[in-house]
Amino acid sequence: MLYRTIGNRRTVSALCLGTMNFGGTTDHETATAILDRFVAAGGTFIDTANNYGQWTGDAGESEELLGRWMHSRGNRDQLVIATKCGAKTTMPGNPDDEYWEGLGAAVIESAVKDSLTRLGIDRIDLYYAHIDNRSTPLEETVGAFGRLAAEGVVDLIGCSNITSWRLERARQLAADQGVAQYSVLQQRYTYLWPSPLAQDGLQRLGSPHFPHAGVEHFDYLDEHRDMTLVAYSPLLAGSYSHPERPFPAERGYAHPTAYVRFEVLRQVAQELGATPNQVVLAWMLHQDPVVIPLFGASSVSQLDEALDAVEIRLDAEQMDRLNNA
Ligand SMILES: NC(=O)c1ccc[n+]([C@@H]2O[C@H](COP(=O)([O-])OP(=O)(O)OC[C@H]3O[C@@H](n4cnc5c(N)ncnc54)[C@H](OP(=O)(O)O)[C@@H]3O)[C@@H](O)[C@H]2O)c1
Repeated sequence: MLYRTIGNRRTVSALCLGTMNFGGTTDHETATAILDRFVAAGGTFIDTANNYGQWTGDAGESEELLGRWMHSRGNRDQLVIATKCGAKTTMPGNPDDEYWEGLGAAVIESAVKDSLTRLGIDRIDLYYAHIDNRSTPLEETVGAFGRLAAEGVVDLIGCSNITSWRLERARQLAADQGVAQYSVLQQRYTYLWPSPLAQDGLQRLGSPHFPHAGVEHFDYLDEHRDMTLVAYSPLLAGSYSHPERPFPAERGYAHPTAYVRFEVLRQVAQELGATPNQVVLAWMLHQDPVVIPLFGASSVSQLDEALDAVEIRLDAEQMDRLNNA
């Protein structure tokens, strides 16, 4: 395993394991086996959210499963646990965005307590604002996150699904209030670029809530080295591996250039005797500023494939080819 530093002070594994489907479509036994294997391979960075589970059952199922697992293994202190608030439904059974809890101060203060209880821990290592919420004053949201950090209820704070100008504003507002700033950005990011209309953060293709990490985010990260990108859905939910799973058109990935880029990915994978998934992860691990892939697995064999990506070395020529396709 490789390791990285986030927030200038916490060491985490260079791969972050996503648990979005744990307790839902990934049953307890399989999820437990994946978690055990991840930790055995040196993984320390685990991602969940207070709304995970709400599409198939109850929000919070993933956090509860993680809490039970940490309790049974007694390994909480070796882990960096990230969770999120803001996108949990207030209408159980209906996860539509109109019912999301949002990012008001009262929501954040109550959501963090519920997450701590479900996880069975006394401090969250990294707490994210899950999805930018433009109907709440940003100063209220960053003030609430900053207070949690000052109280020690959470260690690092971060945000997810946000445009670069809103990120900069949030950090500036936190500085004005004298509270901690977000130091981790969690954004959708994979090897394929979505079409420009989907990429600009005000997507006409795809959902307006989920801007892909784009050139402006990278410019920002380049200038703000205290901030780290955690890249979610790097494997495009299986599209690089499953011929029957086309690149998701609703997110802007199914366009002619994407197929050209995919062909280069496949060529490099073939040269290395690796899979396209592994090359996507390795390509991210070779980037500067640092990118931490946040991937999902629904079986131990999928996990093993992802873990092996840390061993892959891409030379400068391969990186150039991948970058410029
Ligand atoms: N901040 C946010 O808004 C946000 C949004 C989404 C996700 N996330 C986080 O990111 C994590 C990862 O998201 P994701 O699941 O979309 O990521 P992903 O890594 O793009 O996709 C994971 C899925 O890809 C498939 N897969 C993985 N390895 C494979 C292999 N070797 N062969 C074939 N298929 C393979 C599996 O699908 P099958 O199970 O169908 O085989 C697996 O569940 C989540 O768990 C969550 O923690 C955050």
